[in-house]
Amino acid sequence: MNDRRCLMAKIKRNCTYLLTTAGKQKIEKQLSELSPNGYSDRQIAQATGLHRTTVKKILKMDRGVSFRTLENFFTHLAIDLNSSDYQESQLQKKTIYQDWGDAPDTQAFFGRETELTTLKQLAIEHRCRLIAITGIGGIGKTDLSLHLARDIQDEFEFVIWRSLINTPPLTEIIGDLIQFISHQQIGNLPDKIHQQISLLLEYLKTSLFTNFR
Ligand SMILES: Nc1ncnc2c1ncn2[C@@H]1O[C@H](COP(=O)(O)OP(=O)(O)OP(=O)(O)O)[C@@H](O)[C@H]1O
Ligand SMILES: [Mg+2]
Repeated sequence: MNDRRCLMAKIKRNCTYLLTTAGKQKIEKQLSELSPNGYSDRQIAQATGLHRTTVKKILKMDRGVSFRTLENFFTHLAIDLNSSDYQESQLQKKTIYQDWGDAPDTQAFFGRETELTTLKQLAIEHRCRLIAITGIGGIGKTDLSLHLARDIQDEFEFVIWRSLINTPPLTEIIGDLIQFISHQQIGNLPDKIHQQISLLLEYLKTSLFTNFR
């Protein structure tokens, strides 16, 4: 990895948030006004565009979610989110590493709500490992994927953005990923591509193991 990219890697604290009792009461009040017979988690998930497990997570108040998820939840239920409605979860703080490379700066972004909801569900709830966005030139694939990546960045420990537009050699891309995920610990990368891939997989496994411990 070149020095410029090393410098661009940034480390930030990833905070997750829990509802407070006041926030939970606000939601319950709104739900009972919307439907006196009550809502199931499935109906709330449909109304908010979140997955049922995320809805349960929020309402049980035992596991934190990203601020953006909480914000979406309130917005879809047409309730204002105030600072008294949530608290930072002390249990789930972790360091996240990001390198946005040459990601374009998207100034204004309109619409695409349905697509973003589907993509978020695929990436977060279904843990899809590969998502392809295809379409004719200029239709908005890059902007959509960038918007998605920025929306869900807090859900991941590592975020790296690379454009393949100039078809960089595979060895360059893999080397870049290894340096990023190993925190620039590798002095000399192996020459052969299959060795580089094995090394990358090794780092990914170690990282996953650390995450789930
Ligand atoms: N939802 C959107 N709101 C506003 N502008 C958008 C939106 N989507 C795309 N654009 C703008 O349209 C232009 C083309 O978008 P983008 O580069 O994402 O298309 P693309 O499908 O990736 O194109 P290509 O196939 O050439 O890579 C850009 O200027 C982008 O900022
Ligand atoms: Mg593009």
